[in-house]
Amino acid sequence: MFEQQVALFTIFGGTGDLAKRKLYPSLFRLYRKGHLQEHFAIIGTARREWTDDYYREIVAESLTSLTPTEEELADFTSHFYYQSHNVNDTDHYIHLKKLATELDERYQLKGNRIFYLAMAPNFFGTIVNHLESEKIITESGYNRVIIEKPFGTDYASAEKLNEEIRAVFAEDQIFRIDHYLGKEMIQNISAVRFGNNIFESLWNNRYIENIQVTLAEDLGVEERGGYYDQSGALKDMVQNHILQVVALLAMEVPNLFSEKSIREEKIKALNAIRLYDEEEANRCFVRGQYTAGNVGTQSYKGYLEEENVETQSRTETFVAGKFLIDNFRWQGVPFYVRTGKQMTTKAARINVVFKPTPVNIFRDEVTCVKNNQLPQNVLTIYIQPTEGFSLTLNGKEIGPGFDINPVKLDYRNTTEMVENSPEAYEKLLLDALNGDATNFTHWDEVAQSWRIVDVIRAAWDQNTDPIPTYAAGTMGPKEAFDLIEKDGHEWVWRPDDWYRENNLLS
Ligand code: BG6
Repeated sequence: MFEQQVALFTIFGGTGDLAKRKLYPSLFRLYRKGHLQEHFAIIGTARREWTDDYYREIVAESLTSLTPTEEELADFTSHFYYQSHNVNDTDHYIHLKKLATELDERYQLKGNRIFYLAMAPNFFGTIVNHLESEKIITESGYNRVIIEKPFGTDYASAEKLNEEIRAVFAEDQIFRIDHYLGKEMIQNISAVRFGNNIFESLWNNRYIENIQVTLAEDLGVEERGGYYDQSGALKDMVQNHILQVVALLAMEVPNLFSEKSIREEKIKALNAIRLYDEEEANRCFVRGQYTAGNVGTQSYKGYLEEENVETQSRTETFVAGKFLIDNFRWQGVPFYVRTGKQMTTKAARINVVFKPTPVNIFRDEVTCVKNNQLPQNVLTIYIQPTEGFSLTLNGKEIGPGFDINPVKLDYRNTTEMVENSPEAYEKLLLDALNGDATNFTHWDEVAQSWRIVDVIRAAWDQNTDPIPTYAAGTMGPKEAFDLIEKDGHEWVWRPDDWYRENNLLS
């Protein structure tokens, strides 16, 4: 049995989509596994006037796919309380404090408090100030604040936000969520790198030619057009998830797998990423916007036809780019990244492309050659939907002659393992309960990521060329392929090829 956690959660944004889709199911899984038993309570707050009963019904609905028993449902939801709340109204915090104190006594919560801010960032400052001024922050237990993205919209706004939060909470009380850090295979990057001498000894510019990170989505902006049109793929995905993945791939070996060492190494890696000037940013990063397209018999609309999107919008729904890392380990190794909405499929993977052998001694025999080179070894880390790794190696084709062909050593977690493994939010909530911030982003990481992204954004804002487009269902605009091909490389993962070969893309 696990150690039972004791805490009061106050969720600002308790009626929101994130709470329903991610937080309530994750809290329920923690409850089912015994991490949360008697000594927990949740206050959901938002503007709407809901009763506790109605709130509990909503929470129960969000758990349908987890098929709780009647008994589980009744017991779990009985820990939920609702408080209608206007974040600017001091009176409301007085009620909140009263409720928090009552629940603390009823459930013996030892003054442990987790404040979850799942609202627009412009409210964060007001909320944390009131938490302090109205003494909702306790002196008896721990106080932690979990903050959802986006953490600012550029460096300046992020810094302001950080200052507001830091005026009330210390860095070690702040848990900035990047849900990619809760994903099984993202956590596995460190296991692959530091648990296998065969890789760590090759993990540098002597043996690696380039690294490719693809986070592809096959849906459009859905009902989030309003937010997304202000944000775009660069801020929505690159500033956080992609740069976090790059940092984990690029960082030096930490002394110990501990919060402090890992964060220190990630910060150093991010600090070593080259900050581009305008010309470099335009050369090394391309953007794209999806237009209508068909995959098989399914038709998709273009971005400009989406709800709450400006008809003339220049917001990018796709980004591909190259990061360069100026340190001994990575000098000269491009880290290519790409991400976008409405691409061929929803999947995330990392391809580590090793350099070719110095000489191809089989050159007359090889069937599968590029520039008379042997196919390159590629280590692939599959993040989602399947989880696992593969490594392509060259072997001799069976039979007479000496044809060399790549073979793939492939390991995937079974569907059952994937289904039973904790969801990203579940792991992160448990980490926050345990006070472990390893898989949360430190301010220095957020700050440097904004600096990196801001120069790209500024270069694009100056650039009035038409935004390249890509048809829904493809892997981005032609420019994304040119970007890597002009360096003499190519995207290893091309899921759209199959659709094209089968005449399914138009
Ligand atoms: C979020 C972005 O951070 O990540 C969304 O705001 C995106 O636009 C999502 O869809 C992707 O996350 P996942 O876990 O579905 O790959």
